[in-house]
Amino acid sequence: MKKYFVLLIMLFTGSFIFCQTIELPAPQKTGGMPLMETLAKRTTVRSFDTTDISLQQLSDLLWASFGVNRSDGKRTAPSANNKQEIDIYVLLKTGAFVYDAQDNKLTQVATEDLRKAAASQKFAGDAPVQLIFIADLSKSGNGTEEEKLRMANIDCGYVSQNTYLYCTSAGLVTGARASINRDAITAPLKLKPEQKIILAHSVGFQKK
Ligand SMILES: Cc1cc2nc3c(=O)[nH]c(=O)nc-3n(C[C@H](O)[C@H](O)[C@H](O)COP(=O)(O)O)c2cc1C
Repeated sequence: MKKYFVLLIMLFTGSFIFCQTIELPAPQKTGGMPLMETLAKRTTVRSFDTTDISLQQLSDLLWASFGVNRSDGKRTAPSANNKQEIDIYVLLKTGAFVYDAQDNKLTQVATEDLRKAAASQKFAGDAPVQLIFIADLSKSGNGTEEEKLRMANIDCGYVSQNTYLYCTSAGLVTGARASINRDAITAPLKLKPEQKIILAHSVGFQKK
């Protein structure tokens, strides 16, 4: 009886929807463009086609950006004191998700398409994927909020460069953006006060 009651509550509150997860295919960790060629081609792009990227590309993008690359749980980007405080939120047309790097999956946090709402520059909302890098300062080490934010900004920079390099290597395009409609996405993403929106990356194919 209790089970049915809980089920009923979940149906009414819509919490079923938010439990939805996307299991990502295993990332492809070999291949791609040689590093020196990738660096030679890295660039910021500000015009995106609306064509979707594949689930494999999304998995590879997230793994390259801040996936787990060692059996001890450490990541493709370094972080101060290994606090790993940057979370990658993924805005897709099917809703908003948070990347679970340890389990290689996406957990849904909102059902709305927030890509255009997040984009303070119009081009950014056209891309099929928009990554939002959010620092969770509750995971940071000791120190004032200013000190935690300083480390988080630096940590985020490494993740951002990984995003640039993966996209270049895979024939996708991207651009970092500090200009984000923070107010429009804070509530829909259900962010806590300790979660600070640092940077966004639209990802997709270049508009011809
Ligand atoms: C921290 C950071 C914030 C940025 N914010 C924006 C932004 O809000 N809007 C934008 O169009 N470009 C933004 N950019 C992209 C820069 O303008 C771009 O990197 C710079 O012009 C150099 O171009 P390149 O990346 O092609 O070398 C940002 C880049 C960084 C690293």
